[in-house]
Parts: sequence; C-alpha cells; structure tokens
Amino acid sequence: MTSSDSKPVIVGMSGASGSLMAKATVDELLLRNVPTILVCSNDARLVWHEEMDQPFNEELARWREHPHFRHYAISDMRAPIASGTFPTRGMVVVPCSMNSVASIAHGLASNLLLRSADVCLKERRQLVVVPRETPLHSTHLENLLTLSRMGAVVLPPDPAFYLRPQGIGDIVQFVVGRILVALGVDEALEQGLQYRPDEA
Ligand SMILES: Cc1cc2nc3c(=O)[nH]c(=O)nc-3n(C[C@H](O)[C@H](O)[C@H](O)COP(=O)(O)O)c2cc1C
Repeated sequence: MTSSDSKPVIVGMSGASGSLMAKATVDELLLRNVPTILVCSNDARLVWHEEMDQPFNEELARWREHPHFRHYAISDMRAPIASGTFPTRGMVVVPCSMNSVASIAHGLASNLLLRSADVCLKERRQLVVVPRETPLHSTHLENLLTLSRMGAVVLPPDPAFYLRPQGIGDIVQFVVGRILVALGVDEALEQGLQYRPDEA
C-alpha cells in the first residue's frame, strides 16, 4: 500500500435520484479496504427513503462496523474533510443533484458536502461528479462545463447499452466501476481488465 492508498476517499451523497449508486460506491470502496468517509445531504436521505428498501440508518450502522468507514453529519463544518490540511485522495459526489452541481461550480460551501468538494477543487485533488437529472437546461450544462474546466470529472450515470445490461444492478455496477477508475482506486479496472468492445 502506498501513502496515497492510505488516504481516504470522500463519498458525498446528494439529493438526486440514484441512492443505489451511492450505496454500491461505498460498498465497493470498503470491499477494497479503501478508507471511506461519507457525507449525505438532508435531501439525499429523503431520496434514499423513496428509493431503497433498507432504512438509511440501518445501512449506516452496517457500514460503521467496517474499520475503514467514517461518517460526518452534513452540518458538521468542524469535520476534518472541511479543511484542506486534512489529506484525502479525492471525492465523488454520487448522485449529484443539480443544486449541488450549481453550488460546487460557483464555490458555494454552505454544508459539509459542498465544502469538501470545494476543498478538493482548491487543493487540486480528484473530484468526480455523477450528475443525475434529465433533461438538462442550459444552466445545468454550463455548470457542468464549469466543473469540468475546473478539473472535475463529470461522469453521467449512463448505461453501457453495448454491454446489454440485464437489469439495474448491471447498470449500477458499470457506473461504480467507472467511478473507481476515475478515483484511481481499482488497478485491475484501470489496466483495462474490464470490458473491451472487441470481446463482445
Ligand atoms: C425523490 C426525489 C428525487 C429527486 N431527484 C432529483 C434528481 O434526480 N436530480 C436533481 O437534481 N434533483 C432531484 N431532486 C431534488 C433535490 O433533492 C433538491 O433540489 C435538493 O434541494 C437537493 O439538495 P442537495 O443538493 O443539498 O442534496 C429530487 C428530490 C426528491 C425528493
């Protein structure tokens, strides 16, 4: 393990549709023993309630059993991830609402998720944003372009239709695989051991 590997990855869960993607991202990071710090917006919990069978607090209790997992409240501006002096490997916001996209793009940092993303940008650390909205209007697109120009990876959760996904689980696993590659936490995926079109 290199010193970079021991730094935590921050997972920010905002109030867009797609709680399954956030859950799978945390699960896959912990499966790889990647230190993982979770922060969820209040609306993310609302969406979770709509979309998931298991209550959020039960999932949180399960994650807390993992020695590499930490969680901070959205209002906890004294959490270490609110400061650039706390070393992290980067952050993924999954799913990322248009509200959070707009806030991050414009340097607004009124909660811990937004502040952590802002810190990643200012410290030139990896920031991966998984926006979820459709259709998109011009301001959504301009905000995403702003994020991309600031160095963030904009990773829409689009299905890989060429892989002929058999269900939502396949789509989620594909998106999470792309997230892990963007964060640089999965060497096998990075080395191209995932799907190649000529193997279809
Ligand atoms: C069930 C549900 C689904 C939602 N889905 C989306 C969505 O897919 N994309 C989006 O941008 N906002 C969505 N919203 C609206 C956001 O939750 C809302 O804009 C909120 O202010 C986002 O706050 P946050 O960025 O702090 O999480 C949804 C809200 C609810 C209750």
